[in-house]
Amino acid sequence: MHGRIAPANVEWIAEAGQLIRSGALVAFPTETVYGLGADATNGEAVARVFDAKGRPAFNPLIVHVLDLEAAEAIGLFSPMARGLAQAFWPGPLTLVVPRRDEAGVSDLVSAGLPTIALRAPDHPVARALLSAAQRPIAAPSANRSGHVSATRAEHVSADLGDKAAVILDGGPTTRGLESTVLSLAGETPVLLRPGAIPAEAIEKVVGGALARLPPENGGVPTSPGQLQSHYAPRARLRLNASTWQPDDAVLSFGTVALHPARAMINLSPSSDLVEAAANLFAALRELDASGAETIAVTPISAHGLGEAINDRLERAAAPRG
Ligand code: TXA
Ligand code: MG
Repeated sequence: MHGRIAPANVEWIAEAGQLIRSGALVAFPTETVYGLGADATNGEAVARVFDAKGRPAFNPLIVHVLDLEAAEAIGLFSPMARGLAQAFWPGPLTLVVPRRDEAGVSDLVSAGLPTIALRAPDHPVARALLSAAQRPIAAPSANRSGHVSATRAEHVSADLGDKAAVILDGGPTTRGLESTVLSLAGETPVLLRPGAIPAEAIEKVVGGALARLPPENGGVPTSPGQLQSHYAPRARLRLNASTWQPDDAVLSFGTVALHPARAMINLSPSSDLVEAAANLFAALRELDASGAETIAVTPISAHGLGEAINDRLERAAAPRG
């Protein structure tokens, strides 16, 4: 079955804005490629984006906003970050900056990282959708994992079927290349993904050469595990646990035995993987904060989103060097 392609007129944009607010997914054009959008403040909607993409791991998503003011409500902008936003927004430059936790953006959006990627798109339909939704919109490129990015509504439909409640058709995208991703989270700016804005144009504004990621994966961080600052709990994780010590913290899923524990969080008592994904990062942080030496994790089904959840837990459980 194919998703419904709708003309990007006033009526459909208003409808799409409501759909975003209700937690549904909307595919929409930007100047670069089509995005698969969800309300960035709704963890379950964001989990459905990962489910729709069929990606076996959580990759942090870009949050789309109207302007610098909206971006500054979500991330911390240094004078350099502000200068770059002023020079290139609206446009295909994504800035990775430290996140403000109080902004209410789901931590699944940034896959548990302390940073957040933000950009103001330069496309009338994307901007009208942001105005209609009145929410920051988290959106990866609207293609299945491993496929090329979609530059036409028909590509989105062929790739994602009915995973989006509606696909706003704004015609072919003009740039056809994803945004340039630049990290401003550290001391010096780092080019994380080459894209529609050439590095030289950015170097002119910052007044110096940009550092680049090591060339594995063509310089693209394909998972949070390859990003240096990803969240690793202090406690040791023990996976597939069926029992635990009273002093352990427990991360559970579905129906579990009620042995005493220092703290327990059930990711989804009804075994719903979307709900579990939405709760994952906050639960890890909270259990870590309980002071337990060990977090016992009960088995989590490996199908669908379970693959990404288990991937993240295996990374957290891996011995650290
Ligand atoms: O042009 C684009 O950027 C399109 C349109 C829809 O805006 N979006 C897009 O999203 O290409 P996606 O999810 O396919 O790529 C997002 C990139 C990934 O390389 C991801 O690793 C990086 O941005 N990214 C997102 N948040 C990050 C963070 N907190 N730290 C480092 N990298 C981040
Ligand atoms: Mg992509």
